[in-house]
Amino acid sequence: MGVGTGMAKRLLSAVLLAALACGGAHAKFSRNSFPKDFIFGTGSAAYQYEGAYNEGGKGLSIWDKFTHIPGKIKNNDNGDVANDMYHRYKEDVQLLKDMNLDSFRFSIAWSRILPNGSLSGGINKEGVAFYNNLINEVIAKGLRPFVTLFHWDTPLALEEKYGGFLSENIIKDYVDFAEVCFKEFGDRVKDWTTFNEPWTYAERGYSAGLFAPGRCSPHVSKSCLSGDSAREPYVVTHNILLAHAQAVALYRAKYQKVQGGQIGIAVVSHWFVPNTNSTADSFAVQRSLDFMYGWFLDPIVHGGYPATMIGYLGDRLPKFTAEQMTLVKGSYDFIGVNYYTSYFTSAKPAPNGLEQSYDADVRANTSGFRNGVPIGPTEFVPIFFNYPAGLRELLLYTARRYNNPVLYVTENGIAEGNNATLPLKEALKDGHRIEFHSKHLQFVNHAIKNGARVKGYFTWTFMDCFEWGDGYLDRFGLIFIDRLNGLKRYRKESSYWIENFLKS
Ligand SMILES: *[C@@H]1O[C@H](CO)[C@@H](O)[C@H](O)[C@H]1NC(C)=O
Ligand SMILES: *[C@@H]1O[C@H](CO)[C@@H](O)[C@H](O)[C@H]1NC(C)=O
Ligand SMILES: *[C@@H]1O[C@H](CO)[C@@H](O)[C@H](O)[C@H]1NC(C)=O
Ligand SMILES: *[C@@H]1O[C@H](CO)[C@@H](O)[C@H](O)[C@H]1NC(C)=O
Repeated sequence: MGVGTGMAKRLLSAVLLAALACGGAHAKFSRNSFPKDFIFGTGSAAYQYEGAYNEGGKGLSIWDKFTHIPGKIKNNDNGDVANDMYHRYKEDVQLLKDMNLDSFRFSIAWSRILPNGSLSGGINKEGVAFYNNLINEVIAKGLRPFVTLFHWDTPLALEEKYGGFLSENIIKDYVDFAEVCFKEFGDRVKDWTTFNEPWTYAERGYSAGLFAPGRCSPHVSKSCLSGDSAREPYVVTHNILLAHAQAVALYRAKYQKVQGGQIGIAVVSHWFVPNTNSTADSFAVQRSLDFMYGWFLDPIVHGGYPATMIGYLGDRLPKFTAEQMTLVKGSYDFIGVNYYTSYFTSAKPAPNGLEQSYDADVRANTSGFRNGVPIGPTEFVPIFFNYPAGLRELLLYTARRYNNPVLYVTENGIAEGNNATLPLKEALKDGHRIEFHSKHLQFVNHAIKNGARVKGYFTWTFMDCFEWGDGYLDRFGLIFIDRLNGLKRYRKESSYWIENFLKS
């Protein structure tokens, strides 16, 4: 680019800026660009934040066990202490308020409420008190608690007793746990999600074997002690859907009218862009959406699994009885959508019978690159590509295919890498995060203008935290945590950007 055009561009942008300034509030992209009832928040999860893993009467979860197995997590990191939110929640809620946020999304650790997973093992009063304190603090600071019942931390006792979500026995225990939460907290909690990213729980935990409980077939990985990647993910999801539906039915029958809240589920999906215009690739795109997203949304919206899955999987896919189908269909007031990345997608042949797995069953090759060119800027976490238009496409697809439900973007975010030698001052400069959120919010805005009923947006995540298999390597937070100096919290630049964006 020559100097002349550069100058012309700078002049033009100066003129544009002046015009925008004169245009007043409406020209500026801010909270006012969204409907009045739209909420902005940020999210967390119990295992990633609380720490105090064996304090206050808490029972162990499968993540407490998994992270203590050497080699499962980068640097053998674990969530024993995590961000110590269990002890520091007051300071943390103050930070949420300082950012002008409307809502805080967090999960309740099942084994902190029911230490051995079952009601018969007793309710842990200290655990109930902790969540009462947290909820009260959130409300006292003017924020709305947006509560997840299950964010992957199955009580270890239930895993050992009957195999956790591989068994239908989990349904009753889960619903008992949910009822304790509705009873104890539902007078103040008006937004419930039953499960967070059940796809990740089933795929990472039972097909790839990389997350707790770490099960997979020998042909997938030698590091899993046991498992069946071609069957278990489908069984686990089936039981999750039934547990979800029964919890929703219970909430509707006994609590919703009195308490006046809403209940839904938070699901994750990538967006998939066909690699070529061939019919085969467009089928691969639909298969990818069905296997990742429709696996959950088709049952709860339409009452059955996607036809593609039924056709390919035969008896490996569990069936709903007529009665279960009635229960599952319509079991949501809203859908939470977690979105991180998009991929080019092309058709791939079926795996041979010996190498079946959930991951192979989809018969699609997804890649961030086409002819060496990325779909969007690459990120620190190598599986993610920055493609904001994909969020709009996913929201509009959801509106079209799933009866235009009420939607919340329950997760969306980007990480930088932990770098111990980077000076703190530099580590707080996260312009890439500001750009990420402002672009994605613009595409959420397009989706709303095109008819999607999106009611909220939650960044992932509030503070840098334990990122599952990556340990503390990925920093996804608006708040920097200094792990070498007493977990001191520091605001990154993005936290000031959000504060300003939300200033009314
Ligand atoms: C939990 O404790 C109760 C009471 O001791 C017992 O009946 C139940 O079997 C225990 N459940 C598990 C999963 O250990
Ligand atoms: C697909 O077709 C459209 C319209 O003809 C064209 O613009 C686009 O470049 C094609 N995409 C690919 C990947 O070939
Ligand atoms: C998957 O797609 C990528 C990018 O298009 C390509 O490089 C790779 O060879 C493909 N793999 C298979 C198994 O088709
Ligand atoms: C970490 O920060 C130091 C100091 O700025 C820099 O030289 C180095 O390249 C960074 N390391 C990584 C992996 O980014």
